[in-house]
Amino acid sequence: MNREVMVFRDARRLAECARDIWGDVCRTSSEAGYFRAVLSGGETPIPLYQSLAEEGVSCSWDATHIYFADERFVPFDHPDSNYGAIRKVLLDKVPLRPSQVHPVPVEGSPEAAAIRYEQEIRAEFGLPDGKPSFDLAVLGIGEDGHTASLFPGTPVLREKRRIAAPVFPETAAHARITLTFPVLNKCRTVMFIVTGRKKAAVLAGTLAGEPGIPAVRVRPRGRLFYLLDDAAASAWKRTGVETGEAV
Ligand code: 6PG
Repeated sequence: MNREVMVFRDARRLAECARDIWGDVCRTSSEAGYFRAVLSGGETPIPLYQSLAEEGVSCSWDATHIYFADERFVPFDHPDSNYGAIRKVLLDKVPLRPSQVHPVPVEGSPEAAAIRYEQEIRAEFGLPDGKPSFDLAVLGIGEDGHTASLFPGTPVLREKRRIAAPVFPETAAHARITLTFPVLNKCRTVMFIVTGRKKAAVLAGTLAGEPGIPAVRVRPRGRLFYLLDDAAASAWKRTGVETGEAV
């Protein structure tokens, strides 16, 4: 298995490690022309985004393009907007031109917006068909096992054809738009960041491969990192195959 699990005692060191992974992938990808990163919303990745903005990263922003794993179907100035939140802590603070940031559209209907996002990704990648290969995806896991907006029990879990699709989860306040499994699984590197005791049970299930947890189905061909804090890792039964040492 290509996954690497790392457990951190200290939130600052977790964010530093995530930033180092970002820097490594950015440098390697930029040599080929572009570094295309997919970001998630929610609370967990905020320290990484702050660290990228405040400490900087050992890679120029010139070749970086930012995309979103998912979005809540609300205006960008709504408190629940992923783009709005990430703009404040990261995008407004680093030298990215507007043409390097690709928010999910949130006008019209969720269905139409998902189609437009897919069209934008195809245009940016120069890809008339097939799926794009993003260089890095930063993902989180919800307590119910969702990742991006791939919620348990929603039809999007079966989606094979589309790059982006609308989701109407009963358990969420807003409709969502999400990238699909085939796209996440084509990413060159996926970095899950999971922290807090509330995530311990779902994280243990995810690492044990329990069917029914959507996050389990993110198995990219490239590298797969799980960056955890002690609390999130507290229910995980280590197999011995993985390092997972607390650092
Ligand atoms: C979102 C996300 C989602 C998130 C998890 C974990 O828009 O909500 O992209 O998949 O990563 O829900 O959220 P927290 O980090 O807030 O726990």
